[in-house]
Amino acid sequence: MSPSPPPSALLVLLLLVFVAVVCKETTHASALNAATTMGVSLQKLERIQRFLEKINKPAVKSIKGPDGDIIDCVLMNKQLAFDHPLLKNHKIQKVAPKRPASRSEAGDQQPRNIGTARRALQAWNILDNCPDGTVPVQRTTVEDVLRAGSLSRFGKKEVHQQLGATKHEYAITEASQEAYGTKAIIDVWNPTLQQKNEFSLSQIWLTAGSYAKSNINTIEVGWQAYPDLYGDNKTRLFIYWTSDAYVTTGCYNLKCPGFMQTNKQVVLGGPIAPVSTYSGKQSEKTFHVWKDPNSGNWWLSYDNIDVGYWPAAIFTELASNATSVQWGGEIVNQEDNGQHTTTDMGSGHFPKEGYGKASYFRNVEIVNSTNGLIPPQSVRAFATNPYCYEIQTSVNASWGFYFFYGGPGRNPNCL
Ligand SMILES: *[C@@H]1O[C@H](CO)[C@@H](O)[C@H](O)[C@H]1NC(C)=O
Ligand SMILES: *[C@@H]1O[C@H](CO)[C@@H](O)[C@H](O)[C@H]1NC(C)=O
Ligand SMILES: *[C@@H]1O[C@H](CO)[C@@H](O)[C@H](O)[C@H]1NC(C)=O
Ligand SMILES: *[C@@H]1O[C@H](CO)[C@@H](O)[C@H](O)[C@H]1NC(C)=O
Repeated sequence: MSPSPPPSALLVLLLLVFVAVVCKETTHASALNAATTMGVSLQKLERIQRFLEKINKPAVKSIKGPDGDIIDCVLMNKQLAFDHPLLKNHKIQKVAPKRPASRSEAGDQQPRNIGTARRALQAWNILDNCPDGTVPVQRTTVEDVLRAGSLSRFGKKEVHQQLGATKHEYAITEASQEAYGTKAIIDVWNPTLQQKNEFSLSQIWLTAGSYAKSNINTIEVGWQAYPDLYGDNKTRLFIYWTSDAYVTTGCYNLKCPGFMQTNKQVVLGGPIAPVSTYSGKQSEKTFHVWKDPNSGNWWLSYDNIDVGYWPAAIFTELASNATSVQWGGEIVNQEDNGQHTTTDMGSGHFPKEGYGKASYFRNVEIVNSTNGLIPPQSVRAFATNPYCYEIQTSVNASWGFYFFYGGPGRNPNCL
């Protein structure tokens, strides 16, 4: 004879069902509201909701961050990455391999992987946290998809064209060499943007392949402000990847299957605070990407916390090594009345202003084939529009290879 549940348990169950139904109704109602005010058809709304059901994995717990983001704690073994056709049977690598050390750090000063240390890096994590065995994921809303304009381009960069042929402008340093990762300390600012559909970012690109063959593979990480993607102009941590020159594969953060997260403290797409202030305190974050020589996975650590990895399986050209590494800033200029945008790159100040005023990358290093850190070789720096945004590279004893970059956009020399 199977025992029947005690009445109190039944009551709790009924209550849960009721709460679930009510919650579902309210999200649906607010989505419907947003859609009606934006003139979206019911059909399109249903398509968006089916898409969201696929990408927002069930949460063990949800946390509302002070920045308004909703963070879902998703089971690590049930995260979106497993929906990637090549990751169906992927065995998750839960522990990061040893991070490459520079010659100066070798010996008794081996850098420790402090992935498990309790250290709140993001505001939501000061008061609350995700349970063990889960990873924090920024929830995607109907509004997020509507801002993107189309479901097919949601969370993706524009299909990349030749430098100079687009509205994108760069101030970048490039090292064309065999690389198994890179490490850099990046100054973090909150650039002013002229329009919601513009962005300003500062990042690392590791690439292999070519645009000509449409097979460029990239691993990207840095900070950005991008209202159309996030719904506000805050400075946010982001990652990106593609394995076919941005055409069909890859996306920002965890918006599509690919990046495998293992850490429960860092939300990809989460705000970075505080940021640097002009003539004031500088806010720096260390970004480190390195290829695990055994698994071939490309690991990411942010501020010395191992976040997760891009599995080897999602790449083609990056299977062995990157052939080019780039560091620097990019903005998009959407101004169409004949003037240049006033959107800032970096701090919005030119490199010549120097420390405390212009933004920088310092201690820029490359991971070599034996998992060591070395200074970049054969470096070339370029700015697509130097009267608007500039770059200046240099080397010294404490900062290693470094550069200042950025600018204000429109000014008497950039109209
Ligand atoms: C960000 O947006 C808010 C609200 O629209 C605005 O008050 C603020 O000045 C903006 N900040 C920057 C750096 O653009
Ligand atoms: C590095 O990558 C390039 C391009 O994919 C490849 O041709 C080269 O053989 C790789 N180097 C090694 C040592 O595997
Ligand atoms: C890689 O870099 C380390 C220094 O960090 C160096 O000791 C090692 O010899 C380098 N490996 C190769 C193959 O050059
Ligand atoms: C290296 O350059 C930076 C930026 O200009 C400066 O702050 C630092 O003091 C310099 N270090 C040395 C040893 O010259």
